[in-house]
Amino acid sequence: MSRGSRIIGYGTALPDRVITNHDLAQTLDTSDTWITERTGIKERRIGGTTRALGIEAARKALEMAGVEAKDLDGVILATTTPDRVIPATASSVQLELGARCGAFDLNAACSGFVYGLNVAHGLILAGADQILLVGSETLSRFVDWEDRATAVLFGDGAGAVVLSATDAADNALLGWALDCKGEMEKSLHCDFGGFIHMDGREVFRQAVRIMVETCDRALAAAGLRTSDVALVIPHQANIRIIQSACEKLGIAEDRTVQVLSWTGNTSSASIPLALADAADSGRLAAGDIALMVGFGAGMTSASALLRWSL
Ligand code: ACO
Repeated sequence: MSRGSRIIGYGTALPDRVITNHDLAQTLDTSDTWITERTGIKERRIGGTTRALGIEAARKALEMAGVEAKDLDGVILATTTPDRVIPATASSVQLELGARCGAFDLNAACSGFVYGLNVAHGLILAGADQILLVGSETLSRFVDWEDRATAVLFGDGAGAVVLSATDAADNALLGWALDCKGEMEKSLHCDFGGFIHMDGREVFRQAVRIMVETCDRALAAAGLRTSDVALVIPHQANIRIIQSACEKLGIAEDRTVQVLSWTGNTSSASIPLALADAADSGRLAAGDIALMVGFGAGMTSASALLRWSL
């Protein structure tokens, strides 16, 4: 039988502690005006563990989906900030939820959630019935809080979805693209025991180009045009990156989802956080086509065109 996949539940988790731009300006040579104008970020949430945030988001997604953890066929945890080297943080998530299935971490930096969506879809086509996909990050543990170039950008959080098998006729994943440009790995990196280092200007320049490229590839694969897309759900790194990429794609800014003003850049968690925000606020109706697009360290990129069905 020909199969497809669709999202049947989602959930999020954010730490309680809020750090505003004004808070950062107390200890760093920066200002609310600079951070807001250059990034669009006003505040970020900090704290917790990748495991705990991921479990909280996953529980909400499972509840909405009406799926019990014991019935899952796979747990994928997209993260670039695991709680330890081994075992995978996904093991803790699987244990705590009571799942009895394969579980693994997936590190594709800020593209991790969309990479995971494509991997989950592939597992479902191969026979899995229900997959839990979580994007969870605690970037605050890897940020040098004395470095104004990076400290103002990142936040912690998690988002999760449950994907279920469907008939091919109801398949929601209409097109996708994955890429990695390893020659750019030095522009954004964090070594063992160190902090995140980034050539911000270079990452900005490449991010816009890469976003446009990956979106074009997914649209071509699906045989769709930007006018078919109801909503763009982009990685939440910088408002100016989103604006520039959408301008080049010919997509109006009011067709994008933006949560970065209050979450900061939460890497793998940013797209599921934005997805949940759009769904909760009624910006996604059943049948709408959403274009998810991520880019990040690697430099990785990923896009997925999804027909919303909740
Ligand atoms: N407050 C005040 N001034 C600052 C700050 C700050 N927080 N940070 C840098 N500056 C200064 C710089 O020192 C520089 O000063 P100078 O002109 O005297 O040298 C000036 O502001 C401009 O610096 P730029 O780096 O050119 O600023 P830019 O407009 O490029 O903004 C930023 C910097 C926000 C980092 C931007 O380049 C950016 O968003 N880059 C992409 C980041 C990104 O998307 N990362 C993806 C991460 S995803 C992942 O995989 C983890």
